[in-house]
Amino acid sequence: MNKEIVVSGIRSTGYLHLGNYFGAIHNYVKMQEQYNCYFFVADFHSLTTHPDPKDLRSNVFRVVAENIASGIDPEKVALYAQSDIPEIPELYLLLNMLAYKGELEKVPTFKDKVRLSPDNVNAGLLTYPVLMAADILIHRAVKVPVGKDQEQHLEMARNFAQRFNNRYGELFPEPHVFRFDTGTVKILSLDGNGKMSKSENTNATIYLSDDDDTIRKKVMKAKTDGGPAETGSTKPDYIENLFTLMRLSGTAETLEHFESAYDQSSAGNVLIRYGDMKKQLAEDLVTFIAPIREHAADLQRDEAGIRKILKEGAEKARESAAKTLSEARRLIGINYY
Ligand code: TRP
Repeated sequence: MNKEIVVSGIRSTGYLHLGNYFGAIHNYVKMQEQYNCYFFVADFHSLTTHPDPKDLRSNVFRVVAENIASGIDPEKVALYAQSDIPEIPELYLLLNMLAYKGELEKVPTFKDKVRLSPDNVNAGLLTYPVLMAADILIHRAVKVPVGKDQEQHLEMARNFAQRFNNRYGELFPEPHVFRFDTGTVKILSLDGNGKMSKSENTNATIYLSDDDDTIRKKVMKAKTDGGPAETGSTKPDYIENLFTLMRLSGTAETLEHFESAYDQSSAGNVLIRYGDMKKQLAEDLVTFIAPIREHAADLQRDEAGIRKILKEGAEKARESAAKTLSEARRLIGINYY
């Protein structure tokens, strides 16, 4: 009955792509069966860069729709907007009293932001890890499925939790990075330059919102080469990536066909035809993405539906949040009634 608590924040900027799908969401979909999951859109966090109010709203709705279309089930998890939970900013305020300027200034993600946008070093940016700690601690979560880039933030959340517990009494369990990893795969950018990412090269990133022809065009432009120099060669990572995508979206037969063509190819005898392989992969990906895209579009057309989902998610989340916050207030001594 007592399932472990998992919390994760979803950035509200950018469109979801195959890297997000196979690297994260796919995992969340499995997690929701076994854990007590709180998944939220981190809209407060996005305010550090002052987004246009109209964009912010449509981004939040889109992210919710795309996550549901990808398999997150609002019946199984609490799916909500961070800004709908007033207990989060209140806990953030309380934790800010235990967070020191020196340690916040040392956070690598903060230093990066200072370097990249020196004109917008606001206090929200500095205290970003405190808000993230509040997101997690408000549900007394122990498992947080985040990537490497967020590990430092999680360590800070543990520090704040400990400091609170030491000063006021045991309230927060320590949250840890959750590597759920049941077959998550890293998807590379189709141009062969690192991870598939939201912003870097949009022509080498396949979004869940891409239409069929866009998918085809992007796949046909994916980086390949003249083929393996000898039989049984290991694949360069950009080729391996195409095989990975084929394995994830296509049938075992087509995969096997191209695998064996690759393995038996050599410089004088190139059996693998990347053009054909990409045509096949494009069709596999079209078949895979189209229903997700259509489902997300249908959800987005039904704003009232999304609002209802967010409202119900917020109700679930506030139930747990209110308990933690009232305990925190009591321990601190600001419970007067
Ligand atoms: N900082 C995370 C990111 O950039 C998003 C996030 C905000 C988050 N609050 C969180 C993740 C709480 C996990 C738990 O991806």
